[in-house]
Amino acid sequence: MNNNFSIPPAFTALICQVSGFLTLFLGLPILQAEFDFAIGLDEKLLLQGAVAAGISFVLRQSYWWGPIHLIFPISIYYGLLLDIPIWVYPVLLILILAVFWNVVFNRVPLYLSNRTTAQKLATLIPNNKNAKFVDLGSGLANTLRDISTLRPDCHLYGYETAPVPFLISKLLNIFYRKRNVHIEMKNIWNVPLDGFDVVYCFLSPVPMPRLYEKARSEMKPGSLFISNSFTVPDVKPNRTITLKDGRKTKLFIWKM
Ligand SMILES: C[S@@+](CC[C@H](N)C(=O)[O-])C[C@H]1O[C@@H](n2cnc3c(N)ncnc32)[C@H](O)[C@@H]1O
Repeated sequence: MNNNFSIPPAFTALICQVSGFLTLFLGLPILQAEFDFAIGLDEKLLLQGAVAAGISFVLRQSYWWGPIHLIFPISIYYGLLLDIPIWVYPVLLILILAVFWNVVFNRVPLYLSNRTTAQKLATLIPNNKNAKFVDLGSGLANTLRDISTLRPDCHLYGYETAPVPFLISKLLNIFYRKRNVHIEMKNIWNVPLDGFDVVYCFLSPVPMPRLYEKARSEMKPGSLFISNSFTVPDVKPNRTITLKDGRKTKLFIWKM
């Protein structure tokens, strides 16, 4: 069990916006009474966003939250003026949740491995027939489909809990007739890792320590645990491969 409790970023963002609103609601009238000045609604909304962005900076949120905080209040205001039917908002929220499910629940966003990575991974799977490869958090399963083309001899597995990526990957699998690709809607923490020759993940720094512990206790000797871009703190990989792609992708490899 992971005992490292940290506040989810969405909750911190909410704290920033509420603090921005309260600062303006309580502080601005005092300043106006003291210095006798007036400001328009747009300026007030931008000021609220700027205060929220400042608090976000102090609370050490990632830098990209800054512009989001800045434009959030004014966008909501003008969004409401557009008279969009009220049901659109919950539908939009559900859609966004269905795609980015694991940002909220596991702090892992959806971004995809590129083809160069899949090509390299295909060479790292042992050559014995029936070798098993798994992508933990398989997203749209493009990695599995790419590897499937290069290594039709392997069994390729993907586990994903975000509903929309899962559904899309299932449909693409049927469309491309990838018979050696098996995708399931399952939380990666409930996937036993003992049967795989290669376990691959491209997640975020957050789950890495716990996932490495799981790999160490479940994977068979000689098998490979490979993480795209995110290493395990204080555990040196046996090998690091830097790919010749645009982002110089790093594959960290631990031999069990
Ligand atoms: C960065 S994406 C990588 C997608 C794919 N592996 C690739 O390399 O193209 C990470 C994926 O892991 C999924 N994910 C995160 N935590 C998960 C969990 N606990 N169980 C299942 N899937 C998870 C996310 O929904 C997301 O689709």
